[in-house]
Amino acid sequence: MKQFEGKRFEGRTVVVTGGNKGIGLAIARRFGREGASLVLGSIETTVGEAAEALEAEGVPARGVVCDVTDKAAVKALYDVADEAFGGTDISVQNAGIITIARVEALTEQDWDATMAVNTKGVFLCCQEAIARMRRGGRGRAGKGGRLINTASGQARDGFIYTPHYAASKFGVVGLTQSLAKEVALDAITVNAICPGIIHTDMWDYNDKVWGEMLGDYGPGELMASWVENNVPMKRAGTGEDVAGLVAFLASDDAAYITGQTINVDGGLIMS
Ligand SMILES: NC(=O)c1ccc[n+]([C@@H]2O[C@H](COP(=O)([O-])OP(=O)(O)OC[C@H]3O[C@@H](n4cnc5c(N)ncnc54)[C@H](O)[C@@H]3O)[C@@H](O)[C@H]2O)c1
Repeated sequence: MKQFEGKRFEGRTVVVTGGNKGIGLAIARRFGREGASLVLGSIETTVGEAAEALEAEGVPARGVVCDVTDKAAVKALYDVADEAFGGTDISVQNAGIITIARVEALTEQDWDATMAVNTKGVFLCCQEAIARMRRGGRGRAGKGGRLINTASGQARDGFIYTPHYAASKFGVVGLTQSLAKEVALDAITVNAICPGIIHTDMWDYNDKVWGEMLGDYGPGELMASWVENNVPMKRAGTGEDVAGLVAFLASDDAAYITGQTINVDGGLIMS
């Protein structure tokens, strides 16, 4: 079925963290195709190349090296959106990390780093975006906005060997609901998404490490087995599958949806 795609985001600016690859890049591309200007933030220096590639496709884009756990760096990310494009209309908190270990082997560093990126990083970006959207004055500020936070299937159901990751993603749901209530009268919506098994670099890591820990799985075999046994649609998801949901939540059609957490996982989790 050919999908209807207009220029729903013409004249709007979208900040996407972790926008240089994987799910974040697919989200950025989708917004770009639909007319938005993009500011990509990532801890990886390839973020500049990702923005250049978008520009070569005709999408106004900036790439900013930014650690989402660093408040000053997050502020600088949104400064770029103000300076280059006059403000932020939509902010997608997508940057995330995972490690996998048996509980005795899980280090405090694993715990702290995962909570810092996946939960605090989402909060710092929401805080900065909301402040600017509420403040009024510059760009389209004061006219509301859209925040979309990337949680995970692990914000619904914790998987084995990832208690820190599950905790960090359940945290995203909590902060999403709390912020949604605070900013509802400012015409800002805040929602969370829960991707299931999406084939990216992160899943290559999961497949290898969980695969070794859970049995004698070769490369790609654990993912294939989980998809076959647990995903009713019997395929892994793509960045584009996730981008479709994010674009909907950022669109005018989703104006009355806030504080929600929505799965995008081929039916893996139905609660
Ligand atoms: N792939 C999946 O199956 C899956 C499932 C559920 C949720 N998720 C979530 O989706 C998001 C994107 O994951 P992905 O699969 O594309 O992974 P990925 O590893 O391909 O991308 C992660 C991105 O986050 C960025 N990042 C990491 N730490 C950062 C930091 N401190 N500051 C700024 N950027 C940082 C990386 O540079 C990269 O761009 C993550 O939040 C992840 O937890 C992924």
